[in-house]
Amino acid sequence: MQTSPPPPPSKYLQEEDGLTQEEKTLLSSLPSEKGWVLTHLYQYQGFWHTTRNLQGLLACQLHFQAHDSDLLLVTSPKSGTTWLKAIMFAIMNRMRYPCSQHPLFTKNPHDLVPFLEIKLYIDNQIPDFTSFIDPRLFSTHLSYVSLPNSVKESNSKVVYLCRNPRDSFISHWHFANKLRPKTLGPLSLEEAFESFCRGVSLCGPFWDHVLGYWKESLESPQKVFFLKFEELKEQPTVNLRRLAEFMGYPFSQEEEREGMVDEILRLCSFDNLSNLEVNKSGKMPSGEEHKAFFRRGEVGDWVNYLTSEMVERLDSITEQKFHGSGLTF
Ligand code: A3P
Repeated sequence: MQTSPPPPPSKYLQEEDGLTQEEKTLLSSLPSEKGWVLTHLYQYQGFWHTTRNLQGLLACQLHFQAHDSDLLLVTSPKSGTTWLKAIMFAIMNRMRYPCSQHPLFTKNPHDLVPFLEIKLYIDNQIPDFTSFIDPRLFSTHLSYVSLPNSVKESNSKVVYLCRNPRDSFISHWHFANKLRPKTLGPLSLEEAFESFCRGVSLCGPFWDHVLGYWKESLESPQKVFFLKFEELKEQPTVNLRRLAEFMGYPFSQEEEREGMVDEILRLCSFDNLSNLEVNKSGKMPSGEEHKAFFRRGEVGDWVNYLTSEMVERLDSITEQKFHGSGLTF
């Protein structure tokens, strides 16, 4: 009996494919460490990236031209990007789509709000933006220092979402284990924790990523809106209103009376999104399963994993890094 050949590995698992000689030379000059999912992470402009993401970062820095009306969702990985993509898309498009027939029912939020470096500029692609109508909505995990200059120089707006380091770490660790090739075996909590504390995680150091945008939000509050996952969980209505206002899409009194804010929150809730067929069985073009982006969606799950010594160490790094910044979790 003939057996069919195994399918090629998902794109996100391909490490060194398609690199130019120039990129290979650059990579060989950068500090590198063991990755959580793949073999390597490389440090560029102070932050850690996979090979493909770094390639996307470089292409995006070179070519992305922000428009004044663009909105950019920036997140530190595993802080609720998928959730906020859905919310921002729903806020911006609420006149076009009634909640009952919304694109979010059939498309994953990452399809509706594309990542710059991970999707649009991946594999040295130069995206065709002709089908993107202003105002455009994009997302990225890039640190503030690595943002394309056109984002900083234009009047485009940035929404930054982060999450407390304990839950960010746990979410990240689970995610890495879902994505890792089975041949590598699981990544232990202890090994991941050691790397996270040393700052070696995707787009880490976690604290530097958050601080970069925190400082910008204090200096230019009209440019950068800073939000925590925990705030959005605790006071969803208040924060949705604040967010919509910052984005330039405030809710009218009539919309408030009609319950539009709650409708968007219900549409984008963990229970609704995670139970949709598209999010239970679909995949990203690069191969990651949509369901990997939905786990528990709660605040405080770290309590089920971290020892008291781990909490102490993480808290002391957080205190040290954020000292004097006014930022707390
Ligand atoms: P947990 O692993 O703690 O459950 P990102 O989207 O940045 O990759 O972050 C993923 C985290 O956000 C996961 O956290 C995931 O469960 C949670 N999440 C996804 N959708 C959510 C939603 N609609 N509401 C709240 N949390 C959500």
